[in-house]
This record gives sequence, structure tokens and C-alpha cells, in this order.
Amino acid sequence: MDKPRLLQNLKLLPALEARLAQTFDVHRLHEEPDRAAFLAAHGGEFEGLVTSAAVGADAALIGALPKLRVISSFGVGLDKLDLAAAAQRGIAVGTTPDVLNDCVADLAFGLMLDAARGMSAADRYVRSGAWRGAGSPATAPFPLGRKVSGARLGIVGLGRIGSTVAGRALGFEMSVRYHNRRPVPGAPWPYEPSLLALAAWADYLVVIAAGGAGTRHLINAEVLDALGPRGFLINVSRGSVVDEAALVSALVGKRIAGAGLDVFENEPEVPAELMALDNVVLLPHIASATVETRQAMADRVFDNLESFFSTGRLLSPAPLPVAP
Ligand code: NAP
Ligand code: 8YV
Repeated sequence: MDKPRLLQNLKLLPALEARLAQTFDVHRLHEEPDRAAFLAAHGGEFEGLVTSAAVGADAALIGALPKLRVISSFGVGLDKLDLAAAAQRGIAVGTTPDVLNDCVADLAFGLMLDAARGMSAADRYVRSGAWRGAGSPATAPFPLGRKVSGARLGIVGLGRIGSTVAGRALGFEMSVRYHNRRPVPGAPWPYEPSLLALAAWADYLVVIAAGGAGTRHLINAEVLDALGPRGFLINVSRGSVVDEAALVSALVGKRIAGAGLDVFENEPEVPAELMALDNVVLLPHIASATVETRQAMADRVFDNLESFFSTGRLLSPAPLPVAP
């Protein structure tokens, strides 16, 4: 029997590419010099698409693949996948949930500790030689940080990853509250129906809600002002969830204490104003980027496809889109 034809639209881990090539007839769209011309000539040959949360699949790409039956995405974010366009044609969409919860939650805590204790800034202080000169009256000692253990942790988005973040907080003896559109049945942490009230209560506000149109600029100037000059913002969800101009203004004006950011509105662009601030930790979207987690995500990308082509079902289907 012929191998099903798959289109791949980004570079993947070499081991995943090798595994896919054993079972499927894979073509690399991202290596095509003229993608539009390739799709016009060959789009009708593909039953499967392999993509990622970062690259996604828009309505134009889905429309250019008239025989498409399945999309397998590396990652959990849905904001770049046109689920409505896929659902209209009955195309199954698979993602890689849960296997990345631990590493994203770990990184959220890393950002929290770093922003509060100034670890990256302290590293720069040592490397620059400032520590050696700290005895002289001309050089300021490294400033005091803020305590994380026992503090108040507000979670925006108590989903799979948010719940894992909340679990980590137990070891830090933190009080936890959360905000979603609706309470999570059985969750042991108090639900806060008002995002503003959660921000006003929290010392650390961790944002891990889904991205997309429904959460665009959920964290705005008003929320940041509620968080206040003793509060830290940690964003490991999507840059679009935070109004980045309002965040820059709050940080520059010291209206919040600091921030830890893994994601940005226009990646890989990072606002120049943030580069100069020592109370902001900037990471290049690496929350799931460990050898173990990326391997588990790669395995799920493959297993979703294998399951679909052998049983017609995905192991981890994306939720069906809700009509607006
Ligand atoms: P999930 O289980 O679907 O959780 C998403 C949470 O967002 C839910 O609790 C949902 O609650 C909440 N939410 C959605 N819309 C909201 C709104 N308007 N206001 C408040 N809360 C809202 O997803 P997950 O697996 O935890 O992943 C969450 C997100 O993390 C992903 O969508 C992705 O964008 C991001 N992510 C980032 C990285 C990274 O590398 N930085 C890695 C993995 C994931 P309700 O539906 O009740 O509102
Ligand atoms: C990855 C992510 O960086 O899963 C997500 O939504 O943002 C991250 O795990 C991304 O999927 C890589 O494309």
C-alpha cells in the first residue's frame, strides 16, 4: 500500500523527521523556493499536514490542500491554527497537550524567581566586574530582591499548565487564587471572577491563558495598575494576551515591580525599552524547550498521525471551535 502523503511546513527535530519518513511520504514545503507555485501544482496530493503551534495553518494553506484529512501540530497553542476552516471540511486537528505542562510550569517558576531575586541581573553584575568594585563608594551594592516563598500567586488561566503551576506553588508555601472565564469544578484554589481583583490581590500574576482573539490584551494598563508597584507579571502564554505597550509603560514608570517574559507580541522582536531594564527577564519562547519535553511532543505528533491513519482517531484532538 502507498504511504500517505504528508506536507511539512517547518523544520522539525531530526529524529521526528526520520520517524515520519519511515511511515509517510513527506514533502517539505518550507524548503520550496516558491511555496505558492508548489501548492498550486501539488496541493491536491496531500492527506496530512505537519505544523507547529508557532507556525500554524491558516485558511489559505488549508484551502490549498483540497484532500487534507488531518493536521498534526507540534505544541498546544491553537492561536495560529484556523480551527474553523479545518472543522468546516471535517479535517481532524491534533496537538501535544499535557506532555509539556511540567516544563512550562517549571519555567514560569524560574521567571518568577529570577524577576523577584534578580538572578539574571546579578549574573550580569558579577560578569561585569561590578561585584569586585562594590566596596568602593562609587559602586552601588547589588539591590535587595523580593521574597517568593509565602507570597500571593494569581494565575490567569487555570488550565492544564496553570494547574501545574498552582501545584508547584505548594512547595513555596504560596497562597494561590485564579481567574478563568468560569470556575474549574473541584479546583482546590479560590476562584476570582474579577481579573482586576486578582491582580490587586497578587504579588505575582502568572499569565498562562490560551492565546487568540478572545484573550487579546486581557492584561491591559488597568490590570497592570491593579497589580501595582509591588507586583510582578510573568507571561508564559502568548505575547498577544498582554498589551505590550502598556507593559513597557508600567515597567518604565515603575508602576509594577518587574516582569518575566517568555513570549512577546511580535516575536522575535522585543521592545528596546525592556533591554535596558534590570527588573525584567527576557526569554526567547523556550518554556517547553527541554530535550525530554520536545521529544515527548515529537512522539505525540507522530502518534497522532499514526493513530489517525490506522484508526481514524487522534490521540489528542484539539477542541472543536466554538461559534462566536
Ligand atoms: P488549556 O488547558 O486549554 O488552558 C487554557 C486556560 O485559559 C483555561 O483555563 C481557560 O479557562 C483559560 N482562558 C481562556 N480564555 C480565557 C479568558 N478570556 N480569560 C481568562 N481565562 C481564559 O491550555 P494549556 O495547555 O494550559 O496551555 C495554555 C496556553 O499556554 C496555550 O494556549 C499556549 O498558548 C501557551 N503555551 C505557551 C508555551 C510557551 O512555550 N511559552 C508552551 C505551551 C503552551 P476558561 O476556558 O474557563 O476561560
Ligand atoms: C512551543 C508553544 O514553543 O506549545 C505551545 O503552544 O508555544 C511551545 O510549546 C511551540 O509549539 C513550538 O512551535
